[in-house]
Amino acid sequence: MPALPQPLRLPERPQGLPHPEYVTPRGVSPLVSVRDAGLQYPNYTPFKLPNLEERPFVDRGLSADPNKSRLLNAAQAVIHLTPEIGTEIVGLQLTELTDEQKDDLARLVAERGVVFFRDQTMDVHEQVAFGAYYGPLHIHQMAGIIPDLPWVHPIYKDETAVNGRSHQIWHSDVSYEIQPPGLTMLKMDTLPPAGPGGSVAGGDTIWASGYGLYESLSPTLRSFLETLEARHSGLEQAEKAIRTNGCLRRDPIETLHPMVRTHPVTGWKTLYVNENFTKEIVGLEKRVGDGILDHLFRTVAEGYEFQVRWKWSPNAVAIWDNRATFHTGIFDYFPHLRHGLRVAPQAERPYLDPQSTTRREAGGK
Ligand SMILES: [Fe+2]
Repeated sequence: MPALPQPLRLPERPQGLPHPEYVTPRGVSPLVSVRDAGLQYPNYTPFKLPNLEERPFVDRGLSADPNKSRLLNAAQAVIHLTPEIGTEIVGLQLTELTDEQKDDLARLVAERGVVFFRDQTMDVHEQVAFGAYYGPLHIHQMAGIIPDLPWVHPIYKDETAVNGRSHQIWHSDVSYEIQPPGLTMLKMDTLPPAGPGGSVAGGDTIWASGYGLYESLSPTLRSFLETLEARHSGLEQAEKAIRTNGCLRRDPIETLHPMVRTHPVTGWKTLYVNENFTKEIVGLEKRVGDGILDHLFRTVAEGYEFQVRWKWSPNAVAIWDNRATFHTGIFDYFPHLRHGLRVAPQAERPYLDPQSTTRREAGGK
């Protein structure tokens, strides 16, 4: 008989959450339990949160074994999906990892950009506790939440979500925050059916390596970008929330971040601008800055050799590093439903260490 789920230590819930009577049962997808409770899913009931302030952060990957041996030696197989980015681990359950293995995982994610696991038993409570190991969990400023688990951001599209676009814009999650997420995890539990055999198809996600993309730029451009900061903005998201009668939980913010940042675990430089949230390069004439940003956004979108495309299966988990990757979901499954749950621990405030190097210069590839 399988062991019953154990009680978990979850982060302290903020005050004033909506629907205090609602409780997500252990082992059940909130997609089912929230609807069964007669509530809107995802839930957009407004509640107010204090604005985020800078907090100390130490990356768990700094405690890892440089060879990640405690994690990798326990796996049945370790499959590097492309030379640049993406590794699949076979034969491990995330719920059974020791803290040492979790630290090794943080380093592997930092190096490979995104790491995948299939057939994970982890329920949403375990996912929250797992994410909280790596840092304080981000609560989205306006996206729908699970009423009693506000750190969980449902990735959800149904027939009401058609927006005329066949894809999302390449991005790094909520980069407008002072401390944007680092290691971020998504577990997909409902996938669009397709095809005569009923096999799963559609709704893939693509990630791209910020390390590789940065190295692909000319040395002259790289040197110039290292002198610059860019403005990342949450205002458009906030305006959308207001326009669509959604909720806005914090004052929307804009933050200046270096265009090239250093990853604290690998020490490698990575490109840190994204088409969703980066609005302007500080100190340049607007049309000059826009031209550079447009070039960088196209480089991300068209750099196929720096990408990995992941085909989801039920209960697959992706863990990626928002500091060193970009991603986009492929919306090719209308009118079918795709549903997953994202948990995003916040990391350090982005910085550029002038002594840091590219991945290749450091011998990392
Ligand atoms: Fe995203």
